[in-house]
Amino acid sequence: MAEQRKKVTLPVLFDKMAKNTPLTMVTCYDYPMAYLVEQAGIDIVLVGDSLGMTILGFDSTLPVTMNDMIRHAQAVRRGTPSGWLIGDMPYMSYQASDESAVLNAGRFMAEAACDGIKLEGGVEVCSRVRAIVAAGIPVMGHLGLTPQSVSSLGGFRLQGKSGKQAKKIVDDAKALEDAGAMAILLELVPDQVCQIITERSKVPIISLGSGPNAHGQLLIFHDMFGLYPRFTPKMAKQYGNAGKVIADGLKEYVNEVTSKAFPEPERYFGIKEEELAELKRLIAEDNA
Ligand code: KIV
Repeated sequence: MAEQRKKVTLPVLFDKMAKNTPLTMVTCYDYPMAYLVEQAGIDIVLVGDSLGMTILGFDSTLPVTMNDMIRHAQAVRRGTPSGWLIGDMPYMSYQASDESAVLNAGRFMAEAACDGIKLEGGVEVCSRVRAIVAAGIPVMGHLGLTPQSVSSLGGFRLQGKSGKQAKKIVDDAKALEDAGAMAILLELVPDQVCQIITERSKVPIISLGSGPNAHGQLLIFHDMFGLYPRFTPKMAKQYGNAGKVIADGLKEYVNEVTSKAFPEPERYFGIKEEELAELKRLIAEDNA
């Protein structure tokens, strides 16, 4: 049994930020993945609503429900007892009102033992952020490419390319920080924009495809290990191809079952001769 590491807490994250030690963050959706993430010592673990695409096979994150998220967050927490666990607020769990936002954020804390929540948006969600923070729940903001707004953003593409658009992201980051967000994720914004926001920020800035000049980095687990069959975004680095390992294994299994090479004698169990005789006698009695 591996030794349990110390629980990651907000002061631990801010301490790393102050010491310029980059923060590590990955998405995670289930127990076996979370177990590996824990062993690797990842700081921040996001149960992302990207599970709608990576696990449930939808075309977007929009169909994901609070109940989907809670079930997966519970499994992830069982696998990573010490990671700083963030529940990602799914579509329509916070957009309607401050009250629904607080109640749904509270579910992540009460039912899945999360350490905080993440929601998408800038100035327009600041009243949600304030309400959730006032309820004692840490909030991570999410700017740039925000997948729940993919339709109005015109697709999964770089955000903040013009000076004017970039200024809006810079302003949104400041607004989130002022509203009480404990960290901000920047997804797919230009490197220099991420650097400007990081230099101005008093809370950790995490980059997903936004360059090296943030306080930490995030990658989507399924992109890292070749587990999402539809596409791998350019920003994702592949650290292994578990998808290929599994596909090769399944092909071999099909071959072995069809050729009757599997199962081998050491993988199944017999019954004692006398018990077999008794079984046959009982069956014969039934048929008499
Ligand atoms: O759902 C998710 O995994 C996310 C990332 C894309 C940041 O929100």
